Amino acid sequence: MSGPSTVLVIGASRGIGLALVQQIVSVSTSHSLMVRKVKTYMPNLQKQLTCYPSANVYATARDVAKASDLQSLAALNRGKLHLITADVMDPNSIKAAAAEISQRTDSLDHVIYNAGILRGVGKNILEIGIEPLKENLETNVFGAYYSAVEFTPFLLNSKFERKSLVLMSSNFGSIALADTLFQLKTAAFGTDFEPTAMYNISKTTLNRLGKELDQLLRPQGVPVLLLHPGLVKTDMNPFGNIDLKESVIGIVDVISKYSVATKENYVGWNSINKITANFKEQLVSIEGLSDPEISTIRNIGSHRIRNSSTVPTRNGEKSLLSSRGLFKKVKAPPRDRYQIITQHEKDEIICDDTNLGFERTDDLVVVQVFQQGRTTEDKQNMFAALADHLSTECGLEKTDLVISCVENKSEDWSFGLGEAQILNGKL
Ligand SMILES: NC(=O)c1ccc[n+]([C@@H]2O[C@H](COP(=O)([O-])OP(=O)(O)OC[C@H]3O[C@@H](n4cnc5c(N)ncnc54)[C@H](OP(=O)(O)O)[C@@H]3O)[C@@H](O)[C@H]2O)c1
Repeated sequence: MSGPSTVLVIGASRGIGLALVQQIVSVSTSHSLMVRKVKTYMPNLQKQLTCYPSANVYATARDVAKASDLQSLAALNRGKLHLITADVMDPNSIKAAAAEISQRTDSLDHVIYNAGILRGVGKNILEIGIEPLKENLETNVFGAYYSAVEFTPFLLNSKFERKSLVLMSSNFGSIALADTLFQLKTAAFGTDFEPTAMYNISKTTLNRLGKELDQLLRPQGVPVLLLHPGLVKTDMNPFGNIDLKESVIGIVDVISKYSVATKENYVGWNSINKITANFKEQLVSIEGLSDPEISTIRNIGSHRIRNSSTVPTRNGEKSLLSSRGLFKKVKAPPRDRYQIITQHEKDEIICDDTNLGFERTDDLVVVQVFQQGRTTEDKQNMFAALADHLSTECGLEKTDLVISCVENKSEDWSFGLGEAQILNGKL
């Protein structure tokens, strides 16, 4: 099965686009000096696969002069990797890129639209305003449309039997996955809204664009592939849990096998058509999110009587509420513990029994939980888990435990620097 002879990657200055170009082009390992220069994104350049050894690759960047890794790669592949300037927000720029490519060829076997941005993270969509949505749409959708307009004639001219137009999509744009995603992301980021909503909307729109283009072009021999690259660690996604290499090896494999005969045109980098199951696995494996069902306790304050013997002190190994096991039970993410443990003299606390018939002792513990996103059932489970934990781990009488929950919202937190990190997208 021979490979394509011409490939265009749009948006290749860094991240997945750059790694894709690296994966596609043929690199001679004898250029070791040059290889050393291409290090930021491509530490394993020497070992890279030669996927399409005879392909001419066209790679665009909006500022070729600043795309230094791409330039180093081009220097290793003189005559085979051609760098083209294109700002996808500007239809004239894409037209000019098409004109430049047409000087060399009138045919492209694969056109991969990879350029993308993620704007407007971390605010609810009614508060954030329309601008981030416009920006996301401009780059993620309009740019794809302009590119389809300019480069479809090249694809139609191609004689390659597995030619395709590839749009870099995202599971975040999937309507089918939306409900699962709401749950998982609320668990991960502790917000009562979807932090990447404006981006998601743009990728949903891109998906529809892809479907419409496929409807039009597949009968003419150009199927459109909507590709989810995985959650990849890049500038755009510092939470990514797969590396660039794993993603692009998969992407190239999927593209290589794709043809008009392939029924499913919405595929993950790992060739899985039903993205749901795998995506859930990926998202829950992000650091800090070990259980897809977890919601968020942001803060626990507790007070106890000084000198009580059975409850460990705040410096003790078993700090009152910090056990990992307990945190899992009460559905709180790791590294999200904010606890203030204060001890009081006997005469500084009054704690009756509200006529329940309890005898309080001097080991009394009063816990106040600042939290969001819990159901009544969650809270009841949390009360029971705390009582069990303190009773077994610290010997506390369960009648000596008073717990109260205080509801708050995402906007009520600043974790440092005077910033509202849940709102400004840093959390
Ligand atoms: N990383 C993930 O986990 C993930 C998951 C799902 C989908 N995706 C999608 O995969 C694609 C690549 O993402 P990434 O993670 O590699 O992102 P990235 O590291 O932020 O790279 C984005 C690329 O898009 C280019 N770009 C942005 N605006 C452009 C414009 N107006 N004109 C031309 N190029 C432009 C950037 O070029 P400059 O250097 O000029 O800015 C850069 O090359 C995106 O479409 C993204 O939505 C990523």
